[in-house]
Amino acid sequence: MSEDNADMEKCIDILSNRGRIFVSGEAGSGKSQLIHAVEKHEKEEGMHVLLTAPSGIAAENIGGITCHAALAVRPSQRPQYPTALNISRLIDADLLIIDEISMISGEFWTFITKCIECADEARRKMGRSPIRVMVVGDFGQLPPARGTYAFMSYQWRTFGFENLKLKKVYRQDDTKMVKNLQKIRLGDRSGLGFFENYTSPMEIYDDMENTVTLCGFRRTADKYNQLAVDQARLSGKEIINFYSQRIWAGAKVVFRLNDEMGRFCNGDRAIVKAITEDDVLFELKRNNAVIQLSRRMDESKQGRIYERPLFTLGYALTCHLAQGQTFDRANIIIKEEIENSRCEIFTFGQLYVALSRVRTLGGIRILGDIHLPDVLASAYFCNFETNLQSAA
Ligand SMILES: Nc1ncnc2c1ncn2[C@@H]1O[C@H](COP(=O)(O)OP(=O)(O)O)[C@@H](O)[C@H]1O
Ligand SMILES: [Mg+2]
Repeated sequence: MSEDNADMEKCIDILSNRGRIFVSGEAGSGKSQLIHAVEKHEKEEGMHVLLTAPSGIAAENIGGITCHAALAVRPSQRPQYPTALNISRLIDADLLIIDEISMISGEFWTFITKCIECADEARRKMGRSPIRVMVVGDFGQLPPARGTYAFMSYQWRTFGFENLKLKKVYRQDDTKMVKNLQKIRLGDRSGLGFFENYTSPMEIYDDMENTVTLCGFRRTADKYNQLAVDQARLSGKEIINFYSQRIWAGAKVVFRLNDEMGRFCNGDRAIVKAITEDDVLFELKRNNAVIQLSRRMDESKQGRIYERPLFTLGYALTCHLAQGQTFDRANIIIKEEIENSRCEIFTFGQLYVALSRVRTLGGIRILGDIHLPDVLASAYFCNFETNLQSAA
């Protein structure tokens, strides 16, 4: 039996016995792939599966919906106690799957467990068995935007998970690279030297079309995206203003809001396929779907205030936006060679997320001193991971 088949069987086995599983593993260890396999299996058994993830893009990645949508919670809400509306979808689910758990705060996890409890109670009255729960993710990646890690909550410790750790990394073939990524994930600085050779003084705009630039701060990403505008202008492209961004036919963009009609979501990468007199056509990277947005709509919407732009150029991204994605080539900015610049790596898991996005060593180009970041991994995470290992 191959390793992934064994993991799949173990997972199914735990779900039908204990009913609650936490699947962890390094970036690219096939966690999301396992979700697909389990979902398929459970559906074949006639189970109703509710597939969820914290962000729009992570949900799209597994063909699910956001946790907020599943629980009918608006992103701005901080609910404490479940209402009938919050649990209505859960009641019908025989299996709840949550991917990318590291992005969910302890506070929200606590709310989720209360929803599960209420839904189980309702199901019990209907003579149905408790909901099975499969939680998946890697706490070695970026922590939630607000609040503490879910594993630090009381409700994590008392939830009764059985743990399953996926051991083999599939995204990268290079075993030395995987080994050193793992060191960085666990905060071991001796893994940094391995990536030193990929530090390069080359100009960043050498090959912007095929290379993404990963930054820490949004404004640094904006600056590198501006370089792409300058390049497009120099090469004679016709540049238009659309939703306050400058774009041209062929420009790489990334959507920053979830579409009301569900066509795209925050984090979706796309190419401007064509610009006509009336419309702009985007082609999504994820599924090659073509999205048409009216240029007139844009004008009429001017003045409306959104929390973020509808999209930005996609030549440079923050590590936060890149989590969950895979790239062939990336410039990773540690620190710019300009006066008063700050280290771009400022939080736990950030350098690990940046480096582990790239498939091969040859695709990595590091700008700045790889030894500079003083935060690699959270001590809470390292402790949690060690306990997980010894329990397995
Ligand atoms: N069992 C497997 N065999 C071969 N390739 C796999 C397997 N599981 C995952 N992969 C590949 O590895 C990459 C990362 O898998 P993914 O499930 O996204 O990892 P994770 O969710 O753990 O980050 C994907 O390109 C996927 O197709
Ligand atoms: Mg995944």
